[in-house]
Amino acid sequence: MSAGLLGVGKFVPSYIMTNEELENRMDTSDEWIRTMTGIEERRIADDDTNTSHMAYYAAQNAIEDAGITAEDIDLILVATVTPDRPFPAVSTMIQHKLGAKNAAAMDISAACSGFMYGIITAQQFIETNAYEHILVVGVEKLSKITDWDDRNTAVLFGDGAGAAVVGKVSEGRGILSFELGADGSGGKYLYQDDYLHMNGREVFKFAVRQMGLSAENVIEKAGLTKDEVDYLIPHQANIRIMESSREKLELPIEKMSKTIHKYGNTSAASIPISLVDDLIDGKIKDDDVVVFVGFGGGLTWGAICLRWGR
Ligand code: COA
Repeated sequence: MSAGLLGVGKFVPSYIMTNEELENRMDTSDEWIRTMTGIEERRIADDDTNTSHMAYYAAQNAIEDAGITAEDIDLILVATVTPDRPFPAVSTMIQHKLGAKNAAAMDISAACSGFMYGIITAQQFIETNAYEHILVVGVEKLSKITDWDDRNTAVLFGDGAGAAVVGKVSEGRGILSFELGADGSGGKYLYQDDYLHMNGREVFKFAVRQMGLSAENVIEKAGLTKDEVDYLIPHQANIRIMESSREKLELPIEKMSKTIHKYGNTSAASIPISLVDDLIDGKIKDDDVVVFVGFGGGLTWGAICLRWGR
């Protein structure tokens, strides 16, 4: 039996920051942001809502969706580059808050690819029978490391959290293949010192190249062909990057997840947040072949091909 997703959950802050609001704060325009990125609005957490709070709410929803209790969780993995503080880890903070007293806990730093790294790490413990239930959270409060005077980056990001409980699913379902990768020579293109800094052009080129390649690789590793893919959830960073991976897989537009217009780039949270919205909208059915593909700072990347269902 393979590892798969037993339940999912998300949390996004209630405050909506529109492109119009950004027009009033900096030299940008709604038209530029929509055309160049596909973003129309993003959620921004208030001062009282930190990364661990968002992670906790998303985790609660995923645990409920999986039909387990917090005490059933063996391990908590939180993917984030915006923890409340360098340590203790966000995973330990939510372990306490959830009452997941039987769970080990650690954070993962792989930027926007973090959720892919988390799910695949969890898969290893599940398929070796070391653990039964692993909570994986992708969460980011990017607004706290955003330079609100830098129009090159300030328009792109949003806050939020997505979570999944990983465990064994029925025969034939679950994770079929994966690819994880890193190229540290590109670390200079996307990093944080005080604030987040980015060379957009270089990240764009890397993303277009890697997203298509990784998606194709996991389909091939799963022993499938492109026409057997039912749904693609790409990291929601830029609609033009997402479109390039969809075209590479020759998928029609309705078979690609698109939530970037609502949330912007929520980094490690973008794929699980999209997954939750797509499930609510009935876009993914049991036994569908779904491909997740992400990329991010590091540079890092990750893709997963799975057959949906418990
Ligand atoms: N509003 C208006 N103009 C803006 C702007 C904004 N918010 N941001 C940049 N510009 C301007 C630039 O100053 C530049 O003006 P110039 O030609 O007068 O110098 C022009 O738009 C083009 O900028 P450039 O950065 O070269 O555009 P681009 O085609 O590379 O698009 C991004 C910019 C950020 C949309 C694009 O590079 C991108 O999405 N990169 C990937 C980013 C990403 O995914 N990061 C997260 C990784 S997880």
